[in-house]
Amino acid sequence: MTDPAISLIVPTFNESRNLPVLVERVAAALQGRTFEIIVVDDDSPDRTWEVAEGLAARFPVRVFRRIGKRGLSSAVVDGFAAAKGEALAVIDADLQHDPAVLPRLVDGLARCEAAVGTRYAGSGSTGEWGGARLALSRSATWSVRRLLGVPTSDPMSGFFAIRRSLFQRIAPLLQPRGYKILLEVLHRGRVSEVHEEPYTFAGRLHGESKLGTGVLLDCAAALWELRFGAILPLRFVKYCLVGLSGVGVQLLATHALRAIPDLRTADSRLATAIAIAIAMLSNYILDNVWTFRDVRHRGGRAVAIGILRFAAICGTGAVISWSVAQGARLATDGVMNIYFASLIGIAVATVWNYVLNRQFTWRSNG
Ligand code: GDD
Ligand code: MN
Repeated sequence: MTDPAISLIVPTFNESRNLPVLVERVAAALQGRTFEIIVVDDDSPDRTWEVAEGLAARFPVRVFRRIGKRGLSSAVVDGFAAAKGEALAVIDADLQHDPAVLPRLVDGLARCEAAVGTRYAGSGSTGEWGGARLALSRSATWSVRRLLGVPTSDPMSGFFAIRRSLFQRIAPLLQPRGYKILLEVLHRGRVSEVHEEPYTFAGRLHGESKLGTGVLLDCAAALWELRFGAILPLRFVKYCLVGLSGVGVQLLATHALRAIPDLRTADSRLATAIAIAIAMLSNYILDNVWTFRDVRHRGGRAVAIGILRFAAICGTGAVISWSVAQGARLATDGVMNIYFASLIGIAVATVWNYVLNRQFTWRSNG
């Protein structure tokens, strides 16, 4: 069999009722062209993969049932990788995207490397969306365009087509996460012009959207990595935020400890030392469950070793912070403001702590 001209990727999660309708309409829209439909299903509890396999008897459908993997973007990338066509297209399974637009989308690839179904240009529209969702989507779209300068009116569209050559060029660069695969493709591929096809975003046929706050946060994170990741990795930003929270914890702990009569009369250095230990522990816990979540320590032994390493590194960090601050004062013959000198010390120590903790406490290379 010769390879199809078009490979249409359909990512699915619990779309068993929508998929048959979609496939039917796609087949009607693409009549007269050679195409394959690649359903990438993440082992849906409603057995969408089974429905898809059933459809394969009547339509050119291939099914990938991914076990133990979740995510729209990564499903699309896996679909692209398995595709045989010259045009690689993507459509949602819930019929919010109009299959009738597909031929024009694909034809757009004759002129541009990428073609995007857009809600925000020409006759395109977001259909029946209410105020809040429309405002959210519009502001997200606006910030994305400002930040990344992508050449499309609808960078978050899940309805698009790209040339096979574009995918092959950027495949090794993709870090698919969250929802915004098109954004990543255009950004990493440095695509300068796209063909746009307006369409109206319809209501979902059956079931409900999987786009929740978790997904939105994930997108914000992905956006940050794309735009600022090379200079300021998100992990480092998180690490700094945790460090900042530690300052608050230490002040609160000092305050609380001083309320204990015995401690108040005793050497105030003891209260400070205990407060520092509490802040360090709180930082470790937050870093373990948030900053380094992907490589976090689990179980008593791993956590105990982790705390020791963390404390050792932060301890040397404190010495460095102090030395740098003193050094800066000395180098300027004491002219430099003591607070400013301390800030320089803290900045140097923060980078030191981060690099070493990433390397030795959590052994992460990313
Ligand atoms: N394989 C797989 N894995 N598919 C998924 C997953 C997943 O984890 N999550 C969602 N899907 C599939 C759905 O089954 C559907 O076919 C498609 O991806 C879109 O998911 P929806 O849950 O319907 O998303 P939406 O309607 O909220 O969002 C749509 O509009 C956004 C713009 O507002 C999508 O087209 C987004 O890509 C788009 O950014
Ligand atoms: Mn949808």
